[in-house]
Amino acid sequence: MTLTTKINLALAVVFLAGLAITGYISHAILQDNAKREVITHAGMMMESALAARAYTINEIKPLLVDKLSEKFLPQTVPSYAATQEFNRLRQTRPEYWYKEATLNPTNPSDRSTEWETDIIQQFRKNGELTEIIGERETPTGPSLYLARPIRIKNPECLVCHGVPGDAPETMKVLYGTANGFGWQQNEIVGSQIVSVPLSVPFEKANYAFRAFIISQVATFAIIFIVLNIALRFIIIRPVRKMALIADQVSNGDLAVPEFRSDGKDEISQLGHSFNRMRRSVEKAMEMMKQ
Ligand code: HEC
Repeated sequence: MTLTTKINLALAVVFLAGLAITGYISHAILQDNAKREVITHAGMMMESALAARAYTINEIKPLLVDKLSEKFLPQTVPSYAATQEFNRLRQTRPEYWYKEATLNPTNPSDRSTEWETDIIQQFRKNGELTEIIGERETPTGPSLYLARPIRIKNPECLVCHGVPGDAPETMKVLYGTANGFGWQQNEIVGSQIVSVPLSVPFEKANYAFRAFIISQVATFAIIFIVLNIALRFIIIRPVRKMALIADQVSNGDLAVPEFRSDGKDEISQLGHSFNRMRRSVEKAMEMMKQ
């Protein structure tokens, strides 16, 4: 194995090991950052839903409360306001999604699907649980969901969700009495669930990862080329030349020119020593001839 091959092999092993370690760590960090970003994003969407709810209770409902006896206005219902706000958002960003998934809902479109029911049951089983974060495949790609329990804390909720007899007549005209009743004080009846797409931040993370790996490989390629050129001119060529001269001298060819080296590095020092040794050998050979 030549010196160049040995050095290149050692270099390649070190580079590949380094690439594997830094690649693994950076990939994990980038993916983790992407997920954190999505969770922050989902948290903000949840806050925005809560803001829409609070706005409806505090500002919209008081304005319309007198009209409710003539005609029920869903616009005064916080859950309706939050869901509608998101439906508007979904017109431009269909991969974002909000639902007040409920086991026994007033509005059938709020009925929990199978996986949402699983989440609600987890909240019902463990009253301490305040948040569930998970991932799911959706038709628009992988998605992260953030879920929080809906617990009936305010007895006023039961006016419309307790027994049908207490609920406003106008509401029953619109929604009937079959669903959305029988909720209990302190019961977890459903879950607010926000879904945020994961594909875009993951793509960004993968792009950053690819750029990192490509720049690592490019840096190595440059180091590799420069080192090989340097190796060839500084070490391999002079050593080969010396070996050739030594070969010729040892075969009795004393006419070969001396090894020329002007530098001050170790190879030049070796060259000077080599020349001195050659002269001594030549002298010895001449003395032997006499
Ligand atoms: C004035 C009657 C009324 C009151 C009071 C009321 N709601 Fe509702 N609620 C409704 C109606 C009507 C809907 C269905 C709205 C729609 O069409 O999306 C609804 C929907 C919901 C939903 C979505 C699931 C479903 O049933 O469709 C949740 C969750 C909910 N309400 C929770 C509450 C909570 C918690 C309170 C108390 C803070 C409360 N509601 C008070 C009338 C009421």
